[in-house]
Amino acid sequence: MRKKTLVAYFSASGTTARAAKALAEAVGADLHEIVPERLYSTADLNWNDRSSRSSMEMNDAAARPEIKSKVAGMDDYEVVFVGFPIWWYVAPRIIETFLESYDFSGKTVVPFATSGGSDMGGTEAILKKRCSAQTDWRPGKMLNGRQSDKALRSWADGLGL
Ligand SMILES: Cc1cc2nc3c(=O)[nH]c(=O)nc-3n(C[C@H](O)[C@H](O)[C@H](O)COP(=O)(O)O)c2cc1C
Repeated sequence: MRKKTLVAYFSASGTTARAAKALAEAVGADLHEIVPERLYSTADLNWNDRSSRSSMEMNDAAARPEIKSKVAGMDDYEVVFVGFPIWWYVAPRIIETFLESYDFSGKTVVPFATSGGSDMGGTEAILKKRCSAQTDWRPGKMLNGRQSDKALRSWADGLGL
């Protein structure tokens, strides 16, 4: 990538982290993990339990789990890839916390995700609304399975950034 690029990601169990690292390496971007103030335990992630933390958060459109630290020098990045696992067909609420924490005006934002099989569904429309209208929001991509350097680079090249 010619532009200064950041790959920021949230990953509860490591899958999105792997995809994010591969993407950052393939496109020569900096990597930033979005770490929750309170980490998710296995019980928190139990989608069969209606009262688990993840179930409660995903049932509450206004939930904004806190993030431990800010991206250093966000102002300098021109392109920000934002990665997350799909939870209940959309992005975890912490991604909305992340997007609302910065002004992405004039920056390009590109989502990517991993899942057990679901696609991006309605999440892009929701996430886009969490950024200013001056954000260059691009369609995202599912990065399930091992992604080759070549495939990741050709996706990024195709964005023309
Ligand atoms: C609370 C919760 C809800 C999930 N909902 C979905 C879903 O709607 N569709 C799907 O395909 N996978 C779903 N998954 C599976 C994750 O998207 C998948 O395992 C993902 O790769 C995990 O990424 P991570 O290891 O980076 O956290 C869900 C997982 C959790 C914990």
